[in-house]
Order: sequence, then structure tokens, then C-alpha cells
Amino acid sequence: MAGRIPESFIDDVLARTDLVELIDSYVHLKRTGKNYSACCPFHQEKTPSFTVSPEKQFYYCFGCGASGNAIGFMMDYTRLGFVESIETLARNLGLEVPREEGAGQQREDYQPLYKALEAATSFYEQQLRNPKVKERPVNYLKSRGLSGETAKHFRLGYAPQGWDNLITTLGKSDSDINHLIKTGLLIENEQGRRYDRFRDRVMFPIRDSRGRVIAFGGRVMGNDKPKYLNSPETPVFHKGRELYGLYEAKQASNKIRRFVIVEGYMDVIALAQFGIPYAVATLGTATSRDHIEKLFRHSDELIFCFDGDEAGRRAAWRALENALPTAKDGRQIKFLLLPEGEDPDTLVRKNGKDYFEGLLDECDTLSEYFFKHLREEVDTRTMDGRARLASLAKPHLEQLPAGVLQQLMLKRLGEITELDDIQLTPAPPEPLHQGPDYSDYPEIEGLQSDQPPPYHDYDSGHGPGQTDTGKPGKRQPIKRKALQKTKHRDELSLVDATIRMLLNAPRQAAALSLPDELQGLQLPRMATLLELFEFIKQKPDASTASILGHWQNREDGDTIFKLAAKEFLLPNDEQSPELSDAVRRLYLQKVEQDLDQIIADGVKDKNKFKELLHLQKELSK
Ligand code: UTP
Ligand code: MN
Repeated sequence: MAGRIPESFIDDVLARTDLVELIDSYVHLKRTGKNYSACCPFHQEKTPSFTVSPEKQFYYCFGCGASGNAIGFMMDYTRLGFVESIETLARNLGLEVPREEGAGQQREDYQPLYKALEAATSFYEQQLRNPKVKERPVNYLKSRGLSGETAKHFRLGYAPQGWDNLITTLGKSDSDINHLIKTGLLIENEQGRRYDRFRDRVMFPIRDSRGRVIAFGGRVMGNDKPKYLNSPETPVFHKGRELYGLYEAKQASNKIRRFVIVEGYMDVIALAQFGIPYAVATLGTATSRDHIEKLFRHSDELIFCFDGDEAGRRAAWRALENALPTAKDGRQIKFLLLPEGEDPDTLVRKNGKDYFEGLLDECDTLSEYFFKHLREEVDTRTMDGRARLASLAKPHLEQLPAGVLQQLMLKRLGEITELDDIQLTPAPPEPLHQGPDYSDYPEIEGLQSDQPPPYHDYDSGHGPGQTDTGKPGKRQPIKRKALQKTKHRDELSLVDATIRMLLNAPRQAAALSLPDELQGLQLPRMATLLELFEFIKQKPDASTASILGHWQNREDGDTIFKLAAKEFLLPNDEQSPELSDAVRRLYLQKVEQDLDQIIADGVKDKNKFKELLHLQKELSK
């Protein structure tokens, strides 16, 4: 099997290809100002709204939203695959495509880690049969109503009391010990002392979709904290991507009709025992886009099931936001909010399979849940309320893929708001690529300098759509058509807005440094933002197109492209003051998250608390 194409080669191909020349060889391009334009090859139109930027080596259609770099163009226009597109571009340049050696190389590197995890799983399983220690954990599992069969199916186990059970059993050599440390099963402290991470806990092995154990969750049997201890991130475990129970669900049936996504380990297990083997759980994280796409590869129907409390509702809305871009025609997404104080485990145990499946059958569709939720936020009896509903809903509907669902939801929005002309995609701004762009335009009425920056803090605790949280920000003089666009940008989350800025001004970004603390900031797509930043730091000369090249073939690539395309509508302003401002605001959010946490924990560390308050004040200036 041929190996991977090295990323550096892809960079090289993108750097050497002239996008204008390439596209012009398929579609005749006309120069309009600093860009080129044509009637869009990807949809029917009479006036040209397809624009190619030689500077950014990126194209964008104002009519249909198609966008991309040279590789994207080849893939969309000629319908070649990713690899074939690169091969074609390379051939045009007279280059031969190199391949990286050894396809299965990565797997070999991680093999010892998988082996260590497997050995630990067996060890923990055995302890449930070990007469010396089994009594308490077996009683605990029984008290939770689990059968021996279920425990076996999920490979449940027990990590006995003591600091060195794993080391003495599995750590026979230095390399064994190193592997155990890498999997997170052993902890090595600063003095070099090593000890078992999991002690006196019931163990839930987390398997990847191929059935390999990659991590564990361990539950206390009493009331100690934390209730569940989980493996840390390791080379084989990225919790934002894994779903507990996916492998077991696949085992249970070869055609999975639907998935129900629940919150806890015990929910998955109880549902399976009661005859609902298609439940999966995220691992104490929000449901990410990666999670959703992963599930859609196996089934066309997803049902999100959350507790009915405030936290559950917030999690459901966040899941909805991540699900919107994935809601292609033919896929179904539903939401089930349970009565307060119940979870799937307690409900299925009390009322049985038919009852629970009845709830799943009857619950809200994405559209129903969406409008129900928004209607709770506004008063639709007043005109103001209805207008506000429209402006809250629109940016979300724009996240949907074009299709029947989007049309239906738009229609429904029209009915509810009694507004009959709600336009989703902004009108093509004809003059954007003509004449001296962006330069000599005076301030436009309605856009005073005390307007908030074009993003708001999505995750500051209140619902989406509150745009009035911003600080005064400077605006570039901007022309009227572009101004209409900025309205649509208002609903970008701060993280997305920052990603967009990074993509647009990578050189400016490369000069910036991010506070380390941002690593711990829990927001959707924060990991992508950090990865992108890291990438730009390492390749400060990378162009927007070449950065996109690295995301082209990835699951989150689509989102990145869409964000980059939004930036297309603005001038390439390397001096934009917004980026450092955005970083400051992200940092502020992190500090505020930490403050919330400290307060929730009862302010044990007063100095840390003061320090954070001080930081908060500084950052808010
Ligand atoms: P829950 O507290 O709802 O868990 O947390 P649960 O599964 O209902 O627990 P039981 O029924 O009391 O045993 C939901 C999920 O959040 C993560 C775990 O993945 C858990 O399954 N979590 C929760 C942690 O990682 N750590 C914790 O301390 C608590
Ligand atoms: Mn529970």
C-alpha cells in the first residue's frame, strides 16, 4: 500500500500552483480590481459572483458559498479525490508525488501501549473474581442492578486498594513501566516515585471503535470525590473524539438504526442491559462535531438525551449548535430532555425498555427543539420579541447545510415571526471586487465606533445571540456592501472569530504569543484554535491557502474553510487590532472559568483567588 503524502509536499504544491492560472484553465476569469471573477462553475447564475483572490490563493462564491484553495477546486470541479487532486496538480508542476515510508508505522509505535492497556484490563477483570478483594465491588455492581453478563460484556473490573498493584503485576521491566506511565495508568511524581492512578475503584474500560482498550474511567463505591476518575489524554486516547459504548453498540448489531447519546457510563450500561444496545456516552465532555460525524458514519439517526436540569438544557443546546452543520438531508437529529432528577439508568430500570423507547420515538426533532428553546427566550406576542427571535435564529439556520431541512426551518421561522422575507445567505455584493476596495469610505451611519467587535462571548453563561457583551472596538472604514456582511458575522463565537482572524492574518498571528492558560479553556473548537496557532508558529510564512491545505482532508476541515471564507469578504489587513484583542478576551474567559471553579469549590486557595481577580480586572481594562 502506498504511504501518506508528506504534508511538506502538499505545502509545496500549493505554494507553487497559481490558483488564478489553474482556475482560468477551466473557467474563463476576468480581472476585477485586485481579484478575478467569473460566473460560478458550481451553481447556475447570470452575473458573476465567483471570485478568486491571487493574494490569498483562495476562491469564494458569494452566490453559493463555494470556497477553497487549489486542491479544493480540483476536488469540486473535476470530482477527483484528495490524493488524485494533488497528483494532478503535481503533474502540472512536473513534480513526482513522494510517499512516506511504512503505512502501519504509527500503529507499531502505539502497540506496546495497547498491550499495556489490555493487560491492565484483564488484571482488573480478574480482581472481580479474586476472593480476597472481590466482595465489595461485586456487591456494589449488584446494588446497581448489573448482571454478571453485562459486566462481562463491558469488561468491567476492579482496581484494588493499594498504591502498587499494577506496578508489581505488570511493571516487570523499565520499558513496561514506561508504557504504563504513557497510558496514564501509572503516575510518576516530581520525586520520581511511581504509583497506580486507579485505586479502590470499579473500572470501566473505554474501547475505541475497533475494540481496543484505550483508557479507563474508575468509579468510587462510596461518596468520595471525584466520583469518576478518568485516564488523562494519551497518544491513544483523545476524549473529545471517543464515545463510550460505540464498540459495544457495533458488536450488538451490524446495522445500527439509531444512536442515543447519553451522559454517563452507567447510562450506557443500564440501557444495554435492558435491551437498548445503541446508547453511547461522551466522556464528561461536550458533544463535539467530531463525535457527531463519527456516529453519522454508522447510522442516520441520532438522539441526544440529557438530564432535564439547567446544565442538561445547556448541554443540549451546545450539542444542537454542533449538530447543525451536520444535519444533511436524510439524517435525523432528535432531542430528549428527561424529567429532573432522572437519568437513563434510573428511568429504564424503573419503567423498562418499551417505556424508554417510547420516549425516544416521541421526542422533539431538531427543528421542534430549536424553536421551543428560542421561544423560551423571547416573547413572541410582541413584534420586538418576534424580530429578536428572527435575529437569534438566523445565524443558526445559516449553519445548516443547504437543503430541505434548512428550507423548512426557514419557513417555520417565517410563520412564527410573521416575517415573510427572511433571507439567509446575504445578497451578492456586486461591487466588492471592483474599484479601490475598502479604502476611502467614510464612516457609515449606524456603525459608530462604539459598536461591539464582530463576535460575542458565546460561552459566558447566557444563551446564544446576546450581542451586547462587547467592549468598544475600532472599526476599519468599510464599504456599504461589506457592512451588510459584518452583520452576519456578529453571531460568530469568540473562538470562531479568532480562528478566522488567524487564518486571515497568519503573519500577524505568528508574532503573537498565546498565554499557556488557554490550554485549559473549555470552549467548542478551542482545540482547533490552539492547533492552528501552533501550526502558524511553526510555519510563520504559511499562506492562508497552505494552512487550509493541512485541514483539507480532516473532519473539522469544513468548518475551517467556512470560517476562512467569511474572512474573504474583508480586506487583507495585517494590522488589524482585533486579533490581540480576541486573545485577551479568551484569556479573560479562562480566568472567569477558573474563578467560577474556585468559587464552586468554596475558595480554598485565597491567594490564587486574589490573583485571578486581579488578572480579571487587568484583562477587563
Ligand atoms: P454523572 O454524575 O451523571 O454520572 O456524570 P452517572 O453515569 O450518572 O454516574 P452514576 O450513575 O452516579 O454512577 C456523567 C458522566 O460525567 C463524567 C463521567 O463520564 C460520567 O459518566 N464524570 C462525572 C466524570 O468524568 N467525573 C466525575 O466526577 C463525574
Ligand atoms: Mn447515574
